[in-house]
Amino acid sequence: MDLYEYQAKDLFAKHGVPTQSGTVVHHHDDAHGAASDIDNMVVVKAQVKVGGRGKAGGVKLAKTPEEAVEHAQNILGLDIKGHTVKKILITEASDIEEEYYVSFLLDRSNRNFLAMASVEGGMDIEEVAATKPEALAKVAIDPIDGVDLAKAQEIVAAANFPADVADKVADVLVTLWQTFVNEDATLVEVNPLVKDPAGNILALDGKVTLDDNASFRHKDHEALVDIEAEDPLELKAKEKGLNYVKLDGSVGIIGNGAGLVMSTLDVVAYAGEKHGDVKPANFLDIGGGASAQVMADGLDVILGDEQVKSVFVNVFGGITACDAVANGIVQALNLLADSGTPVTKPLVVRLDGNNAAEGRAILKEAGLEIVELVDTMDGAADRAAELANA
Ligand SMILES: Nc1ncnc2c1ncn2[C@@H]1O[C@H](COP(=O)(O)OP(=O)(O)OP(=O)(O)O)[C@@H](O)[C@H]1O
Ligand SMILES: [Mg+2]
Repeated sequence: MDLYEYQAKDLFAKHGVPTQSGTVVHHHDDAHGAASDIDNMVVVKAQVKVGGRGKAGGVKLAKTPEEAVEHAQNILGLDIKGHTVKKILITEASDIEEEYYVSFLLDRSNRNFLAMASVEGGMDIEEVAATKPEALAKVAIDPIDGVDLAKAQEIVAAANFPADVADKVADVLVTLWQTFVNEDATLVEVNPLVKDPAGNILALDGKVTLDDNASFRHKDHEALVDIEAEDPLELKAKEKGLNYVKLDGSVGIIGNGAGLVMSTLDVVAYAGEKHGDVKPANFLDIGGGASAQVMADGLDVILGDEQVKSVFVNVFGGITACDAVANGIVQALNLLADSGTPVTKPLVVRLDGNNAAEGRAILKEAGLEIVELVDTMDGAADRAAELANA
C-alpha cells in the first residue's frame, strides 16, 4: 500500500525523523483556518499517490491565508497523471538552503535492501539517476545488520554530504531506517530532505510503501487505507477474503492455485488475439477446496465488473476433487439466483485431474444453460474469448 505524503510524515514523526506536521483539508474554505494556525508562510500541497506534484502545479507557496484559499481552490480537483486531487496538506513553509535525497528500499533484483542518497535532491531524482548516475550513491544494506550510525555515516560519505550536515543526516538515516523496519515498509523516501539556514535537517516530503503481506502485524495500518481511493471490487473481494486483482479485460477468470491462474491469464490473452483482442478481466485464485460459498463469492465479485462478458473457470483437481468443485459451481449459481442476482453471462468450465469425469457429469446433469464444458485449457480459453467478443 502506498501512503499519502501526510501519512508518510506521520510515520516519520513517530520514529523521530524530523519533519513538519500540517493540516489536511478537503475543502478550500478550510484552508484559511489551517493557514492561520501557522504563523509563517505556508505551502499548499496536493495529496495524491503519484509523483511529480510540484511540476503539475500541485505544490504552491502562500504568503497569506487568503492566498492559501486561492491555491487550495486551484489545486483541489486538479488532475495529476490521472489522479484527481481530493485533499491537500497545508504545512509551514521552510527556508531552504539545500535539497537532498535519501531513501531505503527493497532491492528485489539483488534480494537485498538498498540505501540511495544524493546531495542533488529536489524535484526529479529519476533524472539525476539517468543523467548523472555518479551523483546518486547506492549502498547495499545487510538485512541482519541493518543501519546503525556507522552504516549511516558510510551512506553519507558515499553521497558526499557536506561536512557541516554529515552528522545530522546520518542521525536522520538511522531514524528513517527504523521507520522502514518497524513499519514493515518496502520503500521510505525523502525528497527533498532539506537544510535550512540554521543548519537544521528536515524532511519536507515523504513517500512510503507498506508491505501488505505484513499488515497482520500492524493493526494500526488499517486506518491508513483510503477506502475512497480503493477499487470497489477489490474492496469487496478483500472483505470476502478472496485473492482477487482487477484487470482491464472482459474475460473473468477463476482458477485454483496462483500458478494455474497466472498461466490462465496468458492463455486467455493469447486466445483473445483471435477474438477482437479481448483480455482477462481479473486474477482470482480460489485456492484448494473450492466450497460453494467461495465459488459464489468469486462469481459475485467477477460479475460485479460491468466489463466482464464471459467467465472462464479453470480447475485442476489435485488435492481438490473436481466433483466437489462442480457441486460448488452448481450451488454457487443457485445461491446467486436465490439472492436475486442470477448469473446470465456464459461460464466456460474446464475440469481436469482428480475426479474430472465425475465433476463433468455433475455439471451435465445440472443442465445449466449458461455453463459450457470444454475439455482442454486452450480450447476453453478460446471459447471464453469468443463468447466475450460476441
Ligand atoms: N514545506 C515546504 N516549504 C518550502 N518549500 C517546500 C515545502 N514543501 C515542498 N517545497 C518545495 O516544493 C518542491 C516540491 O515539493 P515535494 O517534494 O513535496 O513535491 P514533488 O516532489 O513535486 O512531488 P512528488 O514527491 O510527488 O514528486 C520541493 O522540492 C521544495 O522545493
Ligand atoms: Mg518530492
